Amino acid sequence: MDRERAQARLAELRREIAYHDHRYYVLDDPVISDGEYDRLFRELVELEERFPDLVTPDSPSQRVGAAVSGGLAPVAHRLPMLSLDNVVSAAELREFEQRILRFLGDGTSLSYVAEPKLDGLAVELVYKDGLLVSAATRGDGVTGEDVTANIRTIKAVPLRLQENGGPVPARIEVRGEVFMDLESFARLNRERGEAGEPLFANPRNAAAGSLRQLDPAVTGSRRLDFHAYGVAEPEALADCEYHGELLSRLAGFGFKVNPLIRVCGSIGEVEEHFRHLEEIRQGLPYEIDGMVVKVDSLALQSRLGARARAPRWAVAWKFPAMQATTRLKEVEFSVGRTGAVTPVAVLEPVEIGGVTVSRATLHNVSEMRRKGLMLGDTVIVQRAGDVIPEVVKPVEEKRNGSEREIALPDNCPVCGADLELPEGEVVLRCPSLACPAQRLRALIHFAGKSGLDIEGFGAKAVEQLWEAGMLKDVADFFTLDPEKLAELPGWGEKSAENAVMAARNAAKTRLSRLLAALGIRHVGEVTAALLEKRFRSLDALMAAGEEELSEIEGIGPQVAASIREFFADPENRRRIATLQERGIEVMAPSAEEKGGLAGKVFLFTGKLASMSRNEAKARVAALGGQVASTVGRKVDFLVCGEKPGSKLARARELGIRVLSEDEFREMTDGF
Ligand code: IVH
Repeated sequence: MDRERAQARLAELRREIAYHDHRYYVLDDPVISDGEYDRLFRELVELEERFPDLVTPDSPSQRVGAAVSGGLAPVAHRLPMLSLDNVVSAAELREFEQRILRFLGDGTSLSYVAEPKLDGLAVELVYKDGLLVSAATRGDGVTGEDVTANIRTIKAVPLRLQENGGPVPARIEVRGEVFMDLESFARLNRERGEAGEPLFANPRNAAAGSLRQLDPAVTGSRRLDFHAYGVAEPEALADCEYHGELLSRLAGFGFKVNPLIRVCGSIGEVEEHFRHLEEIRQGLPYEIDGMVVKVDSLALQSRLGARARAPRWAVAWKFPAMQATTRLKEVEFSVGRTGAVTPVAVLEPVEIGGVTVSRATLHNVSEMRRKGLMLGDTVIVQRAGDVIPEVVKPVEEKRNGSEREIALPDNCPVCGADLELPEGEVVLRCPSLACPAQRLRALIHFAGKSGLDIEGFGAKAVEQLWEAGMLKDVADFFTLDPEKLAELPGWGEKSAENAVMAARNAAKTRLSRLLAALGIRHVGEVTAALLEKRFRSLDALMAAGEEELSEIEGIGPQVAASIREFFADPENRRRIATLQERGIEVMAPSAEEKGGLAGKVFLFTGKLASMSRNEAKARVAALGGQVASTVGRKVDFLVCGEKPGSKLARARELGIRVLSEDEFREMTDGF
């Protein structure tokens, strides 16, 4: 393709991708499949690699830039980013209206815009001729920090304004809130907990920490979101008379504008909307800490102006505090499904936001120690959104010397086994496989996606059957009585029959799947595939010695020992014998599967959307193929995920066939 055609095609691709990003990230209503989107994106990246001088700053490929060193640079806001005065009751809200009416000195009837007050951090985005040129945090309102590179990674932030919002002004400063939704927050903290990193106290801190990163790649991995709620100078949108209109214009430019924003004809309606938000806030996917009320007319806003720190035309009505102080009476330890032992605070009951709280999570032993809690402490407890109540910190000034250290238990509170807290780990664990808490986990794994994947037996269902005493051991999945099952709450004749049938079908399985399902330590899908390839049958594998196992390429001594240990354990042998009696049958791989990819070499680049890299490798291994780690002539296929690296260009040069994730799936399905 020549330069000119490339330039035209690039412009087209950028427009198309920006359109689909907007459908997906802003409107939550995609119109193409992920596969099609990936193809467009790949075409863009490839063309840009061939014509690097044609890369533009608004290209979707340019969201993640290079890390900065030193620190975030200070930026002065052209117009100060003000704060808001607060009201705490309907009566105070009415005083706010009275103040405005007195100030204006005429009998104007006021309309308002009531907006949920998102709990994140305020930022200002500067667009010149429609192009995002800089972004800054609020800071102290006068000077903020330059977070341009990080803001660019947020997919809900348009890099170029769309013209559906009417003509794009030469310069506009858009203001809004960067926040993290509760699901992303929970996921981030879970990952941090597992990695032994300190947890974020709430989504706001997580959003702030993620935005104020020196490396935009880190910000990009954090799933931040952005809602626009205003502009620095409404005059920039000369034809707008109302704030409500201005928000519609922002939506037209491609911004997310919160769907719970209401234009209210009277202060009574504003109050009604507050009650409504208060009612639904627990169910929202993100945290809000109140409502912001703004005078709708921009002309009146301008007449009202601002005092030193806050405008006269807007006010925040916060929800009642979701924190309270109370006394820490005791710490109990509970064993989770994963064998992790979690400290739980037992509190003097206290009311927080209309709910009585008498227990709160302490997350894990390391978090508990970091907070420096002692029994008898006065503590601050908070409820955030619908997150479980948590102990924030002790109020140390209130100590009187009677407080006692919190002792860690030596034994599992469920089964009594000696607990383990390996050096450097944050989670106290019950190591006993016989521990009921752990056995439940093993059952969930067995029937789950990484195990036999038995339809109808998700974690909840397994837990229900466990509690009903119908499932004690993995073999019980194959002798369930459909009539008894149908009697359980939430089940019916049909679903019970289907589930029993699904279990029966799943009993005929590949060796690799069965091995992965058994939950042998260190044996995931990849190792299971290697074992299947080498041994073909369960009997052959069970007879193998440690040495023979560790001879297999990809299986180290630790893994070999763990496999040996598992099959040497009489309890496990008995369990396997029972499984076989009840119909578990290892199927030979079909002819096609056996030789399907024999001799073929695969290479991966980019992130796969529907499976992990390990799972993808397992698929290749199970079908007799090999996986390479660098591009070379022996590579037959390059499987290309999201954000492919330099391997892609190199593979193209060598004429290696490039597969999309969908194509790869198709080729290896049935694995
Ligand atoms: S308007 C002059 N609207 O609340 C108007 N602020 O205390 C100033 N906030 O720092 C802001 N949602 O981070 C406005 N819909 C909303 C908001 C909102 C959240 C935050 C913002 C600001 C703080 C004001």
